[in-house]
Amino acid sequence: MTFHSGRPRAEAPSLLAGLTIEEKIALLSGASLWQTVGYPDRGINPMTLSDGPHGVRVGAEVDLIGTPQTATAICFPTASALSCSWDTALARTQGAALATEARRAGVDVVLGPGMNIKRTPLGGRNFEYFSEDPYLSGRLAAAIVAGTESGGVGTSVKHFAVNNQEYDRFTISAEVDERALREIYLRGFEIAVTEGRPATVMAAYNAVNGVTCTENSRLLTEILRDEWGFDGVVVSDWGAVSDQVAALKAGLDLEMPASDGMGAAAIRDALESGELSEADIDRAAARIIELSSRFAASDRPEPAAASAAELVELARSVAQQSIVLLRNEHDTLPLARTGTVAIIGEFAEKPRFQGGGSSEVPVASFATARTEIGRFLSPEQVRYVRGHDGEQVDRALLDEAVAVASEADVALLFVGLTEMAESEGYDRESLSLPASHLALIDEVSAVSPRTVVILHKGSVVDMASWHEKVDAILDLNLGGQEVAAAALDIVFGEVNPSGRTSETVPLRLEDTPAYVDYPGAQRRVHYRESIWVGYRYYDRRKMPVVYPFGHGLSYTEFEYSDPRATVGDDENVTVEVTVRNVGERAGFEVVQVYVRDDVSTVPRPDRELRGFTKVWVPAGEAVTTRIELDRRDFAFWDEHRDRWAIESGAFTLEIGHSSRDIRASVSVELTGDTQSVVVVDRRTPLGYFLDDPEFAAKVERIMRAVPLLGGGAEIPPESQRIVDEVINGMPLEKLRLVSAGAFSDDDIAGLLERRSHQDEFTRPSLKRTATDKGHPLMPTAGGVAL
Ligand code: BGC
Repeated sequence: MTFHSGRPRAEAPSLLAGLTIEEKIALLSGASLWQTVGYPDRGINPMTLSDGPHGVRVGAEVDLIGTPQTATAICFPTASALSCSWDTALARTQGAALATEARRAGVDVVLGPGMNIKRTPLGGRNFEYFSEDPYLSGRLAAAIVAGTESGGVGTSVKHFAVNNQEYDRFTISAEVDERALREIYLRGFEIAVTEGRPATVMAAYNAVNGVTCTENSRLLTEILRDEWGFDGVVVSDWGAVSDQVAALKAGLDLEMPASDGMGAAAIRDALESGELSEADIDRAAARIIELSSRFAASDRPEPAAASAAELVELARSVAQQSIVLLRNEHDTLPLARTGTVAIIGEFAEKPRFQGGGSSEVPVASFATARTEIGRFLSPEQVRYVRGHDGEQVDRALLDEAVAVASEADVALLFVGLTEMAESEGYDRESLSLPASHLALIDEVSAVSPRTVVILHKGSVVDMASWHEKVDAILDLNLGGQEVAAAALDIVFGEVNPSGRTSETVPLRLEDTPAYVDYPGAQRRVHYRESIWVGYRYYDRRKMPVVYPFGHGLSYTEFEYSDPRATVGDDENVTVEVTVRNVGERAGFEVVQVYVRDDVSTVPRPDRELRGFTKVWVPAGEAVTTRIELDRRDFAFWDEHRDRWAIESGAFTLEIGHSSRDIRASVSVELTGDTQSVVVVDRRTPLGYFLDDPEFAAKVERIMRAVPLLGGGAEIPPESQRIVDEVINGMPLEKLRLVSAGAFSDDDIAGLLERRSHQDEFTRPSLKRTATDKGHPLMPTAGGVAL
């Protein structure tokens, strides 16, 4: 589905025609920190761009060290939390709410969503991003874009591309192979751009394979525009342009913020020298004019007319859907409203609900657990202690916490990462919680009859060392200003939890796929783990993890039955499954569909998320869900041919509650693309050609005579295998040598010519099966019998 908003975009050429070349050049750089240049008397309004992504930073003439801001805004759940909702409709609603906020504040383009892949859990901005998985990221980003733009406000999908760390973020080059680029790092952007149709895309600070993103014509023009059909404005990240002429040529339209005329001067010089043509300038200027007429015009669509109170309520309901119940031993949660509760930890008073840097929103209010608990318990039932003062253990506060916990029926422990731990601008150094929080978990859980950890953090933390000590864990991520209210709604059972992790929780930092190649050096970081990111890596290596991707508990239980998959005429696949709520409470289930290519020539992940849906199932009832997959969901990036490819054969569709809790599976047979994934030339192994009977017969005849292969003697059975393999693996061109000229160069050329139109080349001995991934199976068929 595509979404368009605003006025028709046909007027740009006539508006452009009314401008002088100087005026056009001026349009290509910002007028100030947040504003673009405009000529209102000529019908081109200046635009206000503002962060983003989970709240509208209004009038924020802010620097990174916190110059005071002038207005407050609502802080919605950050992407770290929203992603755990696995709910595109909800993301769309949050996007629409951002439009309402933006319009109220006079903002025309909100700088978000951020959607880089969480390559390492240490990434400083992981809280602003969705997932380790590109499909989940892309679908949620597309929904936010659609929601915001339907309210007449533009979005900026960022940071394009491969901006996965803060360390050296301005100068680092992400060295990534084409397959990982396409399947992991660009795939989410591709979905967001083609499905959501964002008004702008923000070019990142870093370089990709040596070319800085703002000057990267491959990314900004060939892939983004030519392949994906993006027709909006490419804007630079703030200050990311170092050569505006090169950037303009590569496909960047708008340099932000203002550069004191430096960019304009360089463009003027390049125009004079002939390096740039007026058409280059017109192209970018026209796009900026179009953007302005869509989003800075007076007649754009009205956003949802929600009051501030309604938006605050929305922030809370998004948080409710996003919180993940990671652990719930002996049905510790929900709590009854009887008995006594110890509330421990400063976050109960000052919750962490957002991260630092450009996304930080000055809020007018926020919910706290200390206040919210009053909705459920009387003051006599509750004791609060701070438990810590900063990151280091404070013995007196800890002792007080232990004393209070040992007298209460339940301890609610409010812990997580501190404010300094997560911010734009720098990465984290470890996965650890602060010592003071760890000590609380350790000592409180030892004395409390039931300990519930309420976790505040925007990225993965170490849990292996403590999760089994506590009875329940509620993971809030950074859930926006109302997250404390939402958390208590779940703790006391007003809301049945339905969040699912959007990122694997590994056992240790050393287990993470990028561990040895992060953060890089000498301006380069090598993505040697390639496509093996997140659960793709842990699953292939069959590694135990603390909590897998897609995990999350509910207060009810679901059973899956009757999985079906039908392949349509267009080879799109419809997956259906029945989900029955076999518990006592109504609840949401997130049905996840993973795809595996059963047998493939290239290594492919054991499972890849290709579909999901969140369904409400009343207690005792069953709902049949349907998830559509298209051809691309079965494809991989064929590096040799530089295109997506599908190999014919069986694919398994796993349907489940998490990536490691598969409840049903079905198989489909698909016809592959019309091109083989095998490189066919003079060096192609012989084995690929032996399905040609005429050729195979000749090979057999000749090979029988080769001295090394027995010179015509009977081959003992135990040697048959080695003989087969030698022949199968020999490059075609070697035939001339081993046949002592019986095969000429012309024969080889003739064979290649004869087979050049062939679609599929299969050499069974090189196929890999999902049951023994990583190691080619031994020959199952094929080869020549000598
Ligand atoms: C960040 C962007 C942000 C921009 C404007 C940059 O430092 O990387 O995400 O939109 O500043 O604040």
